Amino acid sequence: MQVEKLPIGIFDSGVGGLTVFKEIISLLPHEDVIYLGDTARVPYGTRSPQTVVKYSQENTRFLIGQGIKVLVVACNTSSAVSLLTLKQEHALPIIGVIEPGARRASEVTENKRIGVIGTEGTVKSRAYEQTIKAVDDQITVMSRACPLFVSLAEEGWVDNEVARLTAQGYLRPLREERIDTLVLGCTHYPLLEGVIREVMGDEVYLVNSAKETAKEVQQVLTEGRLAKAAKKDGSYRFYITDNRQRFIKVGERFLGRPLRTVELVT
Ligand code: DGL
Repeated sequence: MQVEKLPIGIFDSGVGGLTVFKEIISLLPHEDVIYLGDTARVPYGTRSPQTVVKYSQENTRFLIGQGIKVLVVACNTSSAVSLLTLKQEHALPIIGVIEPGARRASEVTENKRIGVIGTEGTVKSRAYEQTIKAVDDQITVMSRACPLFVSLAEEGWVDNEVARLTAQGYLRPLREERIDTLVLGCTHYPLLEGVIREVMGDEVYLVNSAKETAKEVQQVLTEGRLAKAAKKDGSYRFYITDNRQRFIKVGERFLGRPLRTVELVT
């Protein structure tokens, strides 16, 4: 089979990576996609880097075994700690979510004060900070873990008093730091964009890493001559490692469309 006809592979720790999937299929509607959500081992954000690397290696081997042309690591925590290892181990193009988001943030900041929010694992890794500083070492980066946002997004509590108070608790200190750019460095956070914007105000630029990653995937496909030539709608397959029912229920809310062909794998 010609390589360009193969699907794009995406993995995440669970359902959150569907925010990345959504941006990719909206930008590249003709591409086929295989998505793996490691719902049996979610969350990755509170685990040690060694464990996340091991899970990421297993997810990668599974997707490569299905036959894919590029791999997208949709999980910020995985991207933060395992991207280098995965790239060393495999020859196909591998795209993480950190670099596209970090690059965008460095481009748009004017006062050179950027905030980054993510899981504990992502924040501890300092991956966003290092990537931003590699572009411009004059930039100050302030990071904050916002673990409760993940549960709120999955619960669908994205526009109520609990979401608002949580956002205020996490984000007010960043606002006081006078950042002009905030990176939404976790798969789930785009769902909370409304309350995040309320707290940060309109003058702070919100970087959606999922959107930036989709652009990067498009560029990699074009430059590598890997884009599908046929202009028919892409087809999608979803694999999960546990709890199909919950993945479908929460996933349909994340995506705003029905989820079919969801298969359980071990
Ligand atoms: N997908 C994870 C991330 O973007 C959030 C959920 C988790 O902790 O596994 O970092």
